[in-house]
Amino acid sequence: MKKDKKHYSSKDGRLPGDLSREQLVERMIRVDQAGEFGAVRIYEGQLSVLDKSEKGPVIRHMLDQERNHLETFNALVSKRRVRPTALMPLWHVAGFALGAGTALLGEKAAMACTVAVEEVIDEHYAAQVEKLQGMDGAEDALKETCEKFRQEELQHRDTGLEHGAEQTPGYEALSALIKTGSRMAIWLSERI
Ligand SMILES: [Fe+2]
Ligand SMILES: [Fe+2]
Repeated sequence: MKKDKKHYSSKDGRLPGDLSREQLVERMIRVDQAGEFGAVRIYEGQLSVLDKSEKGPVIRHMLDQERNHLETFNALVSKRRVRPTALMPLWHVAGFALGAGTALLGEKAAMACTVAVEEVIDEHYAAQVEKLQGMDGAEDALKETCEKFRQEELQHRDTGLEHGAEQTPGYEALSALIKTGSRMAIWLSERI
């Protein structure tokens, strides 16, 4: 495959070493696939504890949407021949552990986990949409996918808030911890 060498020229305003558009988009698809996989694992972890609880149906609905997001990015990874992150086995375990671990602290802690993760994902998709907008229409389909999913992630955040996330004891600390972990996972999945 011919590699885009444009990033070695300064004509388009990029510095040597900056990612080409192709590399940037590949990185986006890789991290989004990883993120949606992580989300599926978090909700599966929550359900392993809370399936029979009153919150079961609410969590199952979010899990269904995450599975749909993941399928979309799985398809994009194959179609555009993107290398998936090597960290999938880690997200398999860490996502489930985060979901199950917070659910074991209680239904509200599970909801606090949802709010924290979804807020980070909202920021993440919003930043991607902005970058994709600057690509002269070449990546409009991907931009629309990211925007649609961002709206659904915001619904998940609102669901968490409606179900008492903020009443979790130690909410601020728990939320900050999960957000830091989620941002690290994004950073790593873009690069590894
Ligand atoms: Fe999602
Ligand atoms: Fe979500």
